Amino acid sequence: MPNPFSYGGIVAGKQFCNRIKEMNDLVRAGLNGEKLFIHGERRIGKTSLLRKVMTKFSEKKVISVLINVWKCVDATDFVNVCGSGFAKAEGSEGILKRVRKLFDGLYPAVTIGDDGRPSLTFERSAGKLSSGQLENVLKASWKIADSNRDKRLVVIFDEFQQVRLLGDDRIERLLRSVVQERSDISWFFCGSRAHLLKQMFLDSNSPLYRSAGHYPIEAIKDKHWIPFISGKFSSNGIDIPSIVIKKLLDITSGHPFYTQMLCSSLWDICEPESTISDDMMEQALNTLLERENSTYHTLWDSLPEQSKRMLRAIAFENPLKSPYSGEVIGNYGFTSPSSAGRAIEYLTFHDLIIKSRGGGYITIDRFLGMWCRKNFAV
Ligand SMILES: Nc1ncnc2c1ncn2[C@@H]1O[C@H](COP(=O)(O)OP(=O)(O)O)[C@@H](O)[C@H]1O
Ligand SMILES: [Mg+2]
Repeated sequence: MPNPFSYGGIVAGKQFCNRIKEMNDLVRAGLNGEKLFIHGERRIGKTSLLRKVMTKFSEKKVISVLINVWKCVDATDFVNVCGSGFAKAEGSEGILKRVRKLFDGLYPAVTIGDDGRPSLTFERSAGKLSSGQLENVLKASWKIADSNRDKRLVVIFDEFQQVRLLGDDRIERLLRSVVQERSDISWFFCGSRAHLLKQMFLDSNSPLYRSAGHYPIEAIKDKHWIPFISGKFSSNGIDIPSIVIKKLLDITSGHPFYTQMLCSSLWDICEPESTISDDMMEQALNTLLERENSTYHTLWDSLPEQSKRMLRAIAFENPLKSPYSGEVIGNYGFTSPSSAGRAIEYLTFHDLIIKSRGGGYITIDRFLGMWCRKNFAV
């Protein structure tokens, strides 16, 4: 029987566990024209959830447009992904694709006519992008809403924090005015890099400051995981006692990606019609850590000295509540509280650590924390 646990890509159907509350909340928000800033750790399941919500939208006469900003490196890319997203909502994706292929090296800028149909114009150099073009592409949302008055429109940006890295402050300013002016269009700004998103939505100097409500995406609760996990194992006649599942979920703290990864590793060592023991869980975990060893090694080698110390401190304290206390500075060998501070900044910027809900820093990759504990016992 193929391994029923899946990690890495977008999950749907039988691979998708729960998220019923989140789905209901987001569908309601979309129907109400709300503006939401949706944030959660990397690989916590945001994109999978958004896709699921989009299928619900389509059942409810809601047009949803998904725009992934992840690959954009400048404002021109941003215009193109927005243009493609909006054109797709208008069912014209094929035209865009054909035109792009035909005029290799040029890129089309999309304007949506008053009839709601897209038309394409070309610009040769990224530097020449005008504010008018930027505004036009964002205002395509208004035109789509106007030509579909019997439906709601929800515009969803994924990996939205990337906008901050595009080096063009016009985007956030124009977005604010386009988003604010219409109460009938819902906007979801979804992203994972907490420090960038905070700057965008919580810094009073930022154009999007307080322009959207918050919606955090958390780990999946044990009560939802337990039937999901035991159901998958029992489909192959394998019994996994609740206490073993609880242990597994303690290790992954219910984070979807790491939970699926560990379950997958456990599945690989199970015989059909067997019962899973604690020892087998340990074995699955060790296999997984061994498999990731060279990746973690390379990452470790790339870190500055003080950041290595801090990562180790965080892995061992798990969570690390007072990184600047005399005890931590002394125990983990920091040269000064300010060097500890810089290490926290470095690790945060590189998405290796995060402040947990209960306070204190943890490693984002739960297995990286374990790998550190295993390799650098103090
Ligand atoms: N609802 C879910 N049920 C089960 N596994 C999930 C769920 N959501 C996410 N996952 C797991 O997490 C991984 C990352 O999901 P993804 O939606 O890409 O997260 P994000 O967009 O937050 O980075 C998936 O490949 C899958 O293994
Ligand atoms: Mg994603």
